[in-house]
Amino acid sequence: MGKSATSLVVCLLLSFYPLAAVAASATAEDRANKSSTPGFLWSTAKEKSDLLAAIDPDDDYAVDGDASGEFAGGFSSLEGMLQWAIGHSDPEKLKDKANDAQRLSPAELNKRQLEIKELMEKLKMPSDAELMKIAINDLNNSSISLEDRQRALNELLILVEPIDNANDLDKLGGLVVVVRELVNPEPEIRTTSAWILGKASQNNALVQNQILALGVMTRLMKMVKSSYTEEAIKALFAISSLIRNNENGQELFFSENGSLMLQDIMSNISIDIRLQKKAVLLVADLVDYQLERAGGAKDAVVTDRLFLKAVVDLTSSNDLDLQEKALLAIKSLLQLPSTDALDFKNFCDLEKVLERLNDQLGKIKKQDDYYDEEIKSLIREIHIIFHRKLDKHAGFMGSNLED
Ligand SMILES: *[C@@H]1O[C@H](CO)[C@@H](O)[C@H](O)[C@H]1NC(C)=O
Ligand SMILES: *[C@@H]1O[C@H](CO)[C@@H](O)[C@H](O)[C@H]1NC(C)=O
Ligand SMILES: *[C@@H]1O[C@H](CO)[C@@H](O)[C@H](O)[C@H]1NC(C)=O
Ligand SMILES: *[C@@H]1O[C@H](CO)[C@@H](O)[C@H](O)[C@H]1NC(C)=O
Ligand SMILES: *[C@@H]1O[C@H](CO)[C@@H](O)[C@H](O)[C@H]1NC(C)=O
Repeated sequence: MGKSATSLVVCLLLSFYPLAAVAASATAEDRANKSSTPGFLWSTAKEKSDLLAAIDPDDDYAVDGDASGEFAGGFSSLEGMLQWAIGHSDPEKLKDKANDAQRLSPAELNKRQLEIKELMEKLKMPSDAELMKIAINDLNNSSISLEDRQRALNELLILVEPIDNANDLDKLGGLVVVVRELVNPEPEIRTTSAWILGKASQNNALVQNQILALGVMTRLMKMVKSSYTEEAIKALFAISSLIRNNENGQELFFSENGSLMLQDIMSNISIDIRLQKKAVLLVADLVDYQLERAGGAKDAVVTDRLFLKAVVDLTSSNDLDLQEKALLAIKSLLQLPSTDALDFKNFCDLEKVLERLNDQLGKIKKQDDYYDEEIKSLIREIHIIFHRKLDKHAGFMGSNLED
């Protein structure tokens, strides 16, 4: 088995770095000696940070590109394994050794590639389910080291990405053991655990409900307040994944004063901007869900004027991405019948805010045109919706007077 995993990694690396054939096998051998779990090739703790860096840290709702497509010829049934191998490759080492590999002639490289491919075909590869079982078993073992625990979590993080694997997680006892790690004394362990829950439940109602049933909401909301920024970000990512298009999840969130939590994040200037982006994105998402269902919402985003102002004020950020996300949230909030047009006008000064943004776009020429156009049309739309809402309000007041 150890040999099989090693060679698999070699081969997979080969697909990514055709010039690094030699490097790949050398790296894999180095690792084989460090392997602590008999029979399997695990990454070392040192590589943990590489792994974390290799995975997109800012994936909100974006579905990650389907890497497997590129390998449809060779490894179509091994999505999780593939991603696992990607995560375990060490870019620095590969780069160094790729230089050595470049000294080989194309023919030599080709030959080596073929050799490894042949070797691959002789080997029986472990299934994703088997790999998940091993990681889950490790997590369920109270006597493993912290390092092994982190490693098992890193592996699950990659393995749960394909939806079939995510669907299997609960059956294999994986959700319970991961949820248990949310209270681990080590912030990094808690962070990866929240990340796994977010990844597994992304666009997956089944897994959302399985995780929500384990009563994680209070815990995750507490983690959002963590002074360790990564923990806060991954916890908010997990919450967003869990409650997106999920009524039950949203009710839980609102009953725990979720609106206030979002408001606190958006209005606190010393909070990490990545967290603010996630918060305002979630606001827009929750409001859109409410708009789609058009009435009958039991619980909803609390939309008092302080909340609205927190959103509007984010448009003064220097970060264009945050600015745009805030504008999108404003556009949605304006369409909610429960928000007050006069709050936007008088308390948030929306008219002036829009003017200022427009002026800014005219002045800052270094911004790219596409972005400018995007924002400009967004501002126009908001302006129209805003004035329609004001007119409606005035009309309503008028009819009241006539009565
Ligand atoms: C692996 O370990 C064995 C014995 O501990 C040693 O002889 C061998 O050279 C090591 N291989 C590598 C690649 O480090
Ligand atoms: C738990 O981990 C310890 C230390 O790694 C190991 O000796 C033991 O066999 C493991 N127990 C199970 C049930 O896997
Ligand atoms: C974890 O270990 C306990 C015994 O210590 C066992 O009852 C349980 O089934 C295990 N869970 C998983 C998911 O392996
Ligand atoms: C939510 O906020 C209200 C008032 O601000 C407070 O009374 C209540 O205890 C809070 N609930 C939770 C779960 O924090
Ligand atoms: C704002 O955020 C900082 C950093 O997370 C925190 O220490 C501070 O308590 C927050 N302020 C408020 C008013 O919540």
